[in-house]
Amino acid sequence: MSHEIVRLHQVAKGFNDGDKFHQVLTGVNLSINRADTVALTGPSGSGKSTLLNIIGGFEFIKQGQLLLNGSDTANWQDKHWSQFRRQHLGVVFQQFNLLTPLNVRDNIAFSLRLNQQKWNPWCDYLLTQLGLDEVKNRHVETLSGGQQQRVAIARALAHKPSLLLADEPTGNLDEKAGTQVMSLLTQLAKESQTSILMVTHSNECAAFMQRRWHLEQGLIHE
Ligand SMILES: Nc1ncnc2c1ncn2[C@@H]1O[C@H](COP(=O)(O)OP(=O)(O)OP(=O)(O)O)[C@@H](O)[C@H]1O
Ligand SMILES: [Mg+2]
Repeated sequence: MSHEIVRLHQVAKGFNDGDKFHQVLTGVNLSINRADTVALTGPSGSGKSTLLNIIGGFEFIKQGQLLLNGSDTANWQDKHWSQFRRQHLGVVFQQFNLLTPLNVRDNIAFSLRLNQQKWNPWCDYLLTQLGLDEVKNRHVETLSGGQQQRVAIARALAHKPSLLLADEPTGNLDEKAGTQVMSLLTQLAKESQTSILMVTHSNECAAFMQRRWHLEQGLIHE
C-alpha cells in the first residue's frame, strides 16, 4: 500500500527583501510516498532549504496547500506541529547540530526523550551499523566530521520517523566519508521505511536516491 507522507499543491513562498518582495517558490506541486527517496538539486538560492523548512513547519506558507500524512496543515496549531515532528520527522543538516557537552549515546537518548521514547534495540542497532560502538561514550566534539554526521543520522532515525529531511548532509565531509554516510543513510532509512527528501549538490549523492527533482525558477522539475 502506498501511503502519502507529503503533498504540496501550488505552494508559493517569497520573502521581503528590503522594500522589494523576492518570490522564491512560485507554484510547487509534489508528492512523497512512504519509503520514497528523493534527491533535490538546484542552483544556490533557488529555494531548496526553504522548501525543506516549509515541509518541516519551520517556515509557513500563505499560498498553496501542504498536506502531511493526508492532513491539511493549514489549520494546524503549534501542538499539531510538535506532535508531527516528534512522531514522524527526522532532520539532518550540513552542520551536524549535535549537543557538544554530551557524549554520543546521550545525544541520541536526549532526542529520544524529547520524542517521549526510550532507548530500544533499534538504537543499539543504529550505533553498530553506523560504526559508532567504539565511540559511544565519547563527547561528540572529539569525533571526526564523518563520525559526527553518523551520530546526527542515528539521532534522526532513532524514533523511526516516516520522513527524513536532509539538507546537504555530506556538505562538510570529504568524498570518502560522504559516500559512506550516504550508503548507511539509505540502507537504514530503507529498514525503517523512512522516506527521504535530501538536498545535495553532488551527483554521486543524488544517485543513492530513487528519484531526482530539480528546483529552478520557483518550480520543481522531475
Ligand atoms: N528567512 C528568510 N528571510 C528572507 N529571505 C530568505 C529567508 N530564507 C530564505 N530567504 C531567501 O530565499 C532564497 C532561497 O533561499 P534558500 O536558502 O532556500 O536557497 P537554497 O536553494 O537552499 O540555496 P543554497 O544551495 O545556497 O543553500 C534566497 O534568496 C534567500 O536569501
Ligand atoms: Mg540551502
